[in-house]
Amino acid sequence: MEEQKLLQVDDLRVEFRTDEGIVRAVNGVSFDLAAGETLGIVGESGSGKSVTNLAMLGLIPQPPGRISSGTALYRGEDLLTANAKRLSQIRGRHIAMIFQDPMTALNPFLTVEEQLTEVTRLHLGHSHDEAIAHAIKMLEQVGITGAEKRVFDYPHQFSGGMRQRVMIALALSCNPDILIADEPSTALDVTIQAQILDLMKQLQKDHGTAIIMITHDLGVVANICHRVLVMYGGKIVERADVDSLFANPRHPYTLGLLESVPRWDADLSKKLKVVPGQPPDLAHLPAGCSFYPRCSYREVRCEQSVPPAFERPEGGDFACFIDVDSVKPVEERT
Ligand SMILES: Nc1ncnc2c1ncn2[C@@H]1O[C@H](COP(=O)(O)OP(=O)(O)O)[C@@H](O)[C@H]1O
Ligand SMILES: [Mg+2]
Repeated sequence: MEEQKLLQVDDLRVEFRTDEGIVRAVNGVSFDLAAGETLGIVGESGSGKSVTNLAMLGLIPQPPGRISSGTALYRGEDLLTANAKRLSQIRGRHIAMIFQDPMTALNPFLTVEEQLTEVTRLHLGHSHDEAIAHAIKMLEQVGITGAEKRVFDYPHQFSGGMRQRVMIALALSCNPDILIADEPSTALDVTIQAQILDLMKQLQKDHGTAIIMITHDLGVVANICHRVLVMYGGKIVERADVDSLFANPRHPYTLGLLESVPRWDADLSKKLKVVPGQPPDLAHLPAGCSFYPRCSYREVRCEQSVPPAFERPEGGDFACFIDVDSVKPVEERT
């Protein structure tokens, strides 16, 4: 029997009822996550990265949202059918999520000590003293100096980067199996961003935490991820090991994203290139490939049928009929 994955998502579909119609934000997403692994999710804004992850944690507002199909097994337990009590237990204890803005996770009216001790008293059964000692230890681990004093400060007394660290300390307080980081360093300057990534790598090494890193920064992907999912229009259009994806992109969208980076290790500060054209209207998805209108390699069949997933020779898969290495881009055809 195949070894059970830490997380196994299968055919996840999420839609939103809006004035424009049903917005199909996530359209049959399947992936898994192994213990201790860092999985990157990249793709332009609106491609369904956040919704995929929020759905697993029961954080999609319903209505207007609806999870219309799928399973998301965490150690074999389906998160999509778990009740609210169980989900809040899992969120506090086993799967943590951090965001771009630390203040979505931190309460401005409570000291850091109050927030950190609350979760460990609740989920780990710590006594008051144990909880405070643990809170100080967590702050030290994320690199906050003078932790035994700073623990009694309020979030606003920390700088942006330090607040990010406090949020990470809070997320990791109960030593979760999975940390979902949704563009955690986007708002920070480059130096602090690099520090936060180093910190996450170190914490992963020390604790074996699996990380889902949602980002639009290829440097982040190259720096921290083992495997990558490329999302477009609510679907995974390509997945592969990081080195293999950078060396050998097979989906035209991935190719477009990578085009500005001449060699994957050349300039890691490059952001994802903006691929010309508009993202698909998720309320009126086309019959065929949703990347078709923007695709340089398109053929007639792409407009008519949705490409299935084809295996990449080096592992992983991609959803495209075309062999981009042997077909000329539209601009070069005569
Ligand atoms: N509460 C909501 N109501 C309506 N549409 C939503 C809601 N949340 C997300 N969406 C839509 O779902 C799509 C995917 O969003 P999201 O997962 O946030 O994208 P990403 O994180 O990749 O930028 C977007 O088109 C967005 O407009
Ligand atoms: Mg997002």
